[in-house]
Amino acid sequence: MKALVCEAYGSVDDLVYRDMPDPVASKGQVVVNIKGIGVNFPDGLLVEGKYQFKPECPFMPGGEFAGEITELGEGVSTFTVGDRVLGYFPSFGAYAEKIAGPIESAFKIPDSMSFETAAALMCATGTAHHALKQRAQLQPGENLVVLGAAGGTGIAAVQIGKAMGARVIAVCSTAEKLAFAKAQGADEGINYTEQDLKQAIKDLTNGQGADVVYDAVGGDAFDVCSRSMAWNGRLLIVGFASGRIPELPVNLTLVKGYSVVGIFWGTFTQKQPEDHAENMRELFQWFEEGKVVPVVDTVFKLKDGIQAIKKITGRDVIGKLVITP
Ligand SMILES: NC(=O)c1ccc[n+]([C@@H]2O[C@H](COP(=O)([O-])OP(=O)(O)OC[C@H]3O[C@@H](n4cnc5c(N)ncnc54)[C@H](OP(=O)(O)O)[C@@H]3O)[C@@H](O)[C@H]2O)c1
Repeated sequence: MKALVCEAYGSVDDLVYRDMPDPVASKGQVVVNIKGIGVNFPDGLLVEGKYQFKPECPFMPGGEFAGEITELGEGVSTFTVGDRVLGYFPSFGAYAEKIAGPIESAFKIPDSMSFETAAALMCATGTAHHALKQRAQLQPGENLVVLGAAGGTGIAAVQIGKAMGARVIAVCSTAEKLAFAKAQGADEGINYTEQDLKQAIKDLTNGQGADVVYDAVGGDAFDVCSRSMAWNGRLLIVGFASGRIPELPVNLTLVKGYSVVGIFWGTFTQKQPEDHAENMRELFQWFEEGKVVPVVDTVFKLKDGIQAIKKITGRDVIGKLVITP
């Protein structure tokens, strides 16, 4: 099969499009013929050796895919050959024509869902869902501030925040991104390259501050939000797309009475598989109701996967990127 391969940790430009052996389904696994690959911010970090995990080279980055099952490993009875599925395999390898992995990490998709949409649904949307549901316990009517709201996981937080009944305040760096977040349901918008973020959050929350902040950006925006929280608020640590992991003077949490809550969706899927499966059921239901629908910015060919990764790390994506083998 064809694949985009990392032969040594380093620049994304050094990924090589070449032949790799076809995967085989071990016990409890399936092989999927990939029709769509979800591009995620960590894909670039993984290749550069800056991610939490370091697979042995050579490897294919990417974990998120949608496609058709072509092979069942020993003991697999919950799927049949030909099933349409999406998944996120923790051992990576999705930048390829085929992938093998455990059945716990694959889910049958609704007939109405295209492979392109399915490839964009799981990681970014699953992260936002887990963050707002299990970790923030977001309540109807609460003020939810979403940083990087037009990005992959940010726009999912906007859609899910609305589905859960919150008042969503989108924060973006350009007018175009803000217009997109509003078109996807955000009630209010802040352009943080033009407006004072702290004052804008204060003005939009009647001086109370944010009940929940969804932060996949970090850096300066985190610093401001750590001073803009409401009493009993939850500041969600999702990622550091800005490139700076911020530090927190913890006295702020004492004075303002808020919690700082870490999110790690990949570990959640493994440690709480039943909650993860229930989340996926709810996401599919919201999809069929038109409440949570991934928006795909651009579709790339697998051989052009380097461009896709550079587009996401270059702050140039509105919604999600998908690759088709
Ligand atoms: N914790 C978890 O389980 C989990 C799961 C998935 C992803 N993540 C993390 O979440 C973060 C966002 O992922 P994503 O897929 O949503 O990425 P994305 O689509 O690229 O969105 C990130 C957003 O961050 C903002 N940003 C600010 N400074 C940036 C910079 N220097 N470079 C790039 N973006 C910048 C951009 O919005 P503006 O231009 O509007 O500022 C951009 O839209 C990543 O750090 C990723 O690793 C964490």
